[in-house]
Amino acid sequence: MNIVFTIFDKILFKNKTIVKKRILVTGGTGYIGSHTVVELQNSGFDVIIIDDLSNSKIEVLNGIEKITGIKPVFEQFDLTDIDKCKRFFNKYTDIEAIIHFAAYKAVGESVEKPLKYYRNNLLSLMSLLESMQTFSIRNLVFSSSCTIYGQPEKLPVTEDAPVQEAISPYGNTKQIAEEIIRDTIKTDKNLKTIALRYFNPIGAHPSAHIGELPIGIPNNLIPFVTQTAIGIREQLRVFGNDYNTPDGTAIRDYINVVDLAKAHVIAIERLLNNNNKKAFEYFNLGTGQGVSVLEIINSFEKVTGIKLNYKIVDRRAGDIEKVWADTSFANKELGWQAEKSLDETLLSAWKWEKRLSEE
Ligand code: UD1
Repeated sequence: MNIVFTIFDKILFKNKTIVKKRILVTGGTGYIGSHTVVELQNSGFDVIIIDDLSNSKIEVLNGIEKITGIKPVFEQFDLTDIDKCKRFFNKYTDIEAIIHFAAYKAVGESVEKPLKYYRNNLLSLMSLLESMQTFSIRNLVFSSSCTIYGQPEKLPVTEDAPVQEAISPYGNTKQIAEEIIRDTIKTDKNLKTIALRYFNPIGAHPSAHIGELPIGIPNNLIPFVTQTAIGIREQLRVFGNDYNTPDGTAIRDYINVVDLAKAHVIAIERLLNNNNKKAFEYFNLGTGQGVSVLEIINSFEKVTGIKLNYKIVDRRAGDIEKVWADTSFANKELGWQAEKSLDETLLSAWKWEKRLSEE
């Protein structure tokens, strides 16, 4: 059925023509983007990807096709180039909504090269918003982050928690991006946006056809854990055990990437069906559970039977102590909640790492 859809885009079904709604996913070969493309296709959407492949690989399209049977339309270019952007929208005139993932995301690098981050993350958003106005596209889902809350005073974090001064230029690009969208919406009655504020996305598709593909030494915890377990890295460093937490290590809310991807489909449907209550809405996407670095290590060792070589080192600059989401607003308004267990999620990350090692 899916293959038939890609060939014809329109089919006759019980005497009715079904036209699949077309969604643009920027950054669609990236980690969260690729999992979202799969969930969109599984829900009957026709997906086009724009990615400049600066932090992902073209082979991801094959992984997507293995899961869904559909290879998405793909265009490779840098979204900060407004002319290319407009050429794209002149070519594809039937896009109903956009999910904007494309952005740089390495916190440490953003401190070293702030202009690289401001230029890429903000100009790409502005190109898109201008194009949306020119080509009358009304619906945007924006990839935001819990980093905008900094170290919140109250836990779990609700959407009402104040946005705090950003610790990194990366985090600042997410704050400024939300402001740019908010201001643009004020002047354009047609535009609607849902910003999704992710906590810590981890894991891979259960098929192990797609997953996280860190280029170089991973910054994030889970790829470092799996690369240590498989022998690519010698030792995992645990950044600090003197935090004010039960075991002294920092606490985060680790959310399965497929669960997260499904929330994007719901957000798109909410916009397309005009079920949004405000022109600009934002939701926390997490599990609601805080998990420490040592708990991650223990769970990983338990589910895989592998002993991890790790040592405790000093805190990492810029890390906060603890954060986890209050998910009740997303549960109530989106009818969404994280379903997969931490064990299942860590196993999926491990399965993916093993698959990568076979290549
Ligand atoms: C960071 C960003 C987040 C961003 C995400 C994606 C902040 C505050 N957070 O999340 O916005 O979306 O990266 O890139 O800017 N850890 C170790 N050893 C390691 C790696 C990590 O102990 O080798 C610890 C960290 O100190 C932290 C936890 O593991 O306590 C999670 O770290 P990480 O996966 O890097 O995510 P965040 O820093 O929470």
